[in-house]
Amino acid sequence: MRSKLAAGNWKMNGTRAALDELGAMAEAAGGAAEVLICPPATLVAEAATKADGVMIGGQDCHAEAKGAHTGDIAADMLKDAGASHVILGHSERREDHGESDEDVRAKCRAAWDAGLVAVLCCGESLAQREAQNTLDIIGGQLAGSIPDGATGHNLVVAYEPIWAIGTGKVPTTDQIGDVHDFIRARLERRFGEGVGRSVRILYGGSVKPSNAAEIFAVSNVDGALVGGASLKATDFVPIIDALNASAE
Ligand code: 13P
Repeated sequence: MRSKLAAGNWKMNGTRAALDELGAMAEAAGGAAEVLICPPATLVAEAATKADGVMIGGQDCHAEAKGAHTGDIAADMLKDAGASHVILGHSERREDHGESDEDVRAKCRAAWDAGLVAVLCCGESLAQREAQNTLDIIGGQLAGSIPDGATGHNLVVAYEPIWAIGTGKVPTTDQIGDVHDFIRARLERRFGEGVGRSVRILYGGSVKPSNAAEIFAVSNVDGALVGGASLKATDFVPIIDALNASAE
């Protein structure tokens, strides 16, 4: 069986004082669900020493192992700082930095070379959903962004509809289920049933304590990638608890 994963993406939020939140999150982390926090890169090393029981990840890495790329961070540097995971292809990076599926695929290879688990994001815009192109878009992103060689140990897929991120709008549970079932089928078709079934698929976009339990009850939802509600333990711990409860 796939284990559950509660992942927090702090985005560009948090200075060292924010690491005080990790203590309560770590206490909630002893249950069935694994807990991952992806703080800004400046906090990865310190978070990794403080967060007993919470895994730490980066939010992006460069496709190359080293070189003249001012401001960028190599996957191996994240690993060296104590990260076990890296978020790749988040819609904010695809939009703000023009990252293509090809770019994300190259970054994913770099992450794997460094021994990091890639948390690979996909998701449609509102216009794409309204044009009923959601599954085509997701299928294209998966095919283009995931390199050959995926396993349940090196890949987590996060479905994050762009229109649900930071908006308080959440798809219906049927809409979430349709996309997660589709992602599962595509993973099984490309990588074989065993691998396809072992990759965890997270939902992300306005997950909160109030809606977590119903989202976690949807088939093929193995956890969440949480933005705003992962910044404070008072919000994130109830989400971890809901995921633990869904595993019982
Ligand atoms: P919110 O939970 O703030 O909507 O953000 C979701 C997200 O983008 C996580 O990567």
